[in-house]
Amino acid sequence: MKILVVHGPNLNLLGKREPDIYGTVTLDEINRRLADLAKELGTEIVCFQSNHEGEMVQKIQEAMGVYQAIVINPGAYTHTSVALRDAIASTGILAVEVHLSNIYRREEFRQHSYISGVAVGQITGFGPESYLLGLRAAVQAVHRTAGK
Ligand code: DQA
Repeated sequence: MKILVVHGPNLNLLGKREPDIYGTVTLDEINRRLADLAKELGTEIVCFQSNHEGEMVQKIQEAMGVYQAIVINPGAYTHTSVALRDAIASTGILAVEVHLSNIYRREEFRQHSYISGVAVGQITGFGPESYLLGLRAAVQAVHRTAGK
């Protein structure tokens, strides 16, 4: 099983970026924890970060037939991007949406996600643990679909 992890805009700044909201763990460290868990779960992951919406759309399209699922933190594009939603819907790829912060406890503009309607589910508010829970959820969802 291969799973793609997609980190959206500004997540490359984790560790330095608004630590009161996003904590002090860096993106490299999150990717390391994901790689360790992937090994434990017997799956392979590739991590990708971009500050550009089009690059994220491209990567999702290229995931078709290569990856069985994606774990995606779309960052601010969560709240703005019909293009990312369409990329997930068009490819039909199984997607798990994750957020470090609880987007429903924050500003009103963050409380709507364009992605959740095309995702299997959403994990929000557990800091770096959201990614690890997201990876577990993605692996289980792939097994569930394969069992059908
Ligand atoms: C975020 C929440 C978004 O609202 C924000 O724009 C981000 C990070 C999170 O992980 O909590 O960049 O996706």
